[in-house]
Amino acid sequence: MHSLLGDHVLQRLQQETSGTLHQRVFRCLRYAIVEGILAPMARLPASRDLARELHVSRNTILSAYEQLQAEGYVDAKTGHGTWVVPHLPDAFLKVAQEKANTVHPSSTEKKMLSRRGASLVGYAAASPYQWGAFVPGAPDVTEFPHPIFSRIQAKLNKEPQIEQLIYSSAGGCPELRSALADHLRVARSVHCDAHQIIITEGVHQAVDLVCRTLTDIGDDVWIEDPGYWGVRNNLRMNGVQMRPLPIDQHGVVLDQLPKGSPKLIFVTPSHQYPLGSHLSLERRKQLIAIAREHKSWIIEDDYDSEFRFSGLPYPSLQGLEEDSPVIYMGTFSKTIYPALRIGYIVVPKALYSPLRVAAAELYRGGHLLIQRALAEFIREGHYEAHIRRMRLLYGKRRKFLINLISRYLGEDFLHEYDDQSGLHIILKLPSHCDDVAIASSALLYGVKTRPLSQYYLFSHARAQRGLLLGFACVNEKDMMMAFGMLLQCLREFGIEKLN
Ligand SMILES: Cc1ncc(COP(=O)(O)O)c(C=O)c1O
Repeated sequence: MHSLLGDHVLQRLQQETSGTLHQRVFRCLRYAIVEGILAPMARLPASRDLARELHVSRNTILSAYEQLQAEGYVDAKTGHGTWVVPHLPDAFLKVAQEKANTVHPSSTEKKMLSRRGASLVGYAAASPYQWGAFVPGAPDVTEFPHPIFSRIQAKLNKEPQIEQLIYSSAGGCPELRSALADHLRVARSVHCDAHQIIITEGVHQAVDLVCRTLTDIGDDVWIEDPGYWGVRNNLRMNGVQMRPLPIDQHGVVLDQLPKGSPKLIFVTPSHQYPLGSHLSLERRKQLIAIAREHKSWIIEDDYDSEFRFSGLPYPSLQGLEEDSPVIYMGTFSKTIYPALRIGYIVVPKALYSPLRVAAAELYRGGHLLIQRALAEFIREGHYEAHIRRMRLLYGKRRKFLINLISRYLGEDFLHEYDDQSGLHIILKLPSHCDDVAIASSALLYGVKTRPLSQYYLFSHARAQRGLLLGFACVNEKDMMMAFGMLLQCLREFGIEKLN
């Protein structure tokens, strides 16, 4: 059983990323004291008990307690335990400053926010960990050919054109839209020309744009469940009603639809996020027919389809039928690097003009010089070459991770929906497991994963348990070490290979 303090420390540790383990535990406990979670004169749990709850050594807790005592937050007497002092020391001020940089606002800060602002912050899911074993979906940003891209940028930046230095109302850099149209027609079978493409700051902004322009508050939007939290949070902010659609091995299940008509239907047909299935041809046709019947727009989030490790890449849903009611979204976050913040939407011709105007009104487009460099990078063939090279590299890393799982845990831990694509796999856990506690505990070992159950719209018994393991940004040596730590952590939760 977890105590309130144990739960608090496990959660808080996800935000305390720097320093040694005992320093991180110390800061979590200090936070609990300063925030009043541990009241003045409250007794701290016995070091042995807290160590057991947090799955760390007793020495880690003892060191954290010692530091709390040295800084005057707690007092201790041999044989009588450790308790919070009645009056906090001056160092409190230091903590208050640190708090300004943390993700979750205090209750006082929350009072300053609007209801939707507080809701957004309350549901915040973006992790402070974006690099290392096993951050899901992170590409290996060190492998990008930075010298080539810099050379292109340097050449273009020397004599920029005026249009590249002023606000854009054209839906992004024309050369990039044109290079993308050519690329998407060939690589993803998308029906499009440059006058259907709007450049955005990633899928996140694209989702915001379509929601603001195509839905009203209270409209129904159907989403995959489990699905991407980034889309969910965006939809929540736009005030729509999210209706979940379940997932099976053929993708989104369409035989028991929610009541009413959705304005938008969000899907990840090439590689369902996060479970990994591919939407079957039969269901693709069914989905388009449903959207036509309800006069809805399907939003195809094609976030990582470039990475398919066996067989040919699947063509897009958008390209399946002429004039399909599909808005296609893509991103360079996985193929180049996330901080580039460049993505795109391909819209049916009738929507291009209003959405382009809306994008200019809402976001005042910019970053045109880097978009121009990206166009050149694609035109010169470097983009395709980089994707091909990364496909090989990630394919090897993926295989390595799958072998580790099969060998040290067993085939039962591999998810049956896996379709050999994307930048993460799911380590399937028995249904009784608390995957949130396991992920928090893994973090104490320096292993960054995300619990599968948190990708569901509501917490319910049907939610599958597992851990998302990203493999793309980790070399085999680091993967091996991190996997060893993960095994140790799983063992503490009673999970190990049966034989
Ligand atoms: C399903 C899904 N869509 C989109 C994105 C990327 O969005 P962006 O282009 O805003 O980086 C991610 C990132 O992990 C994702 O998992």
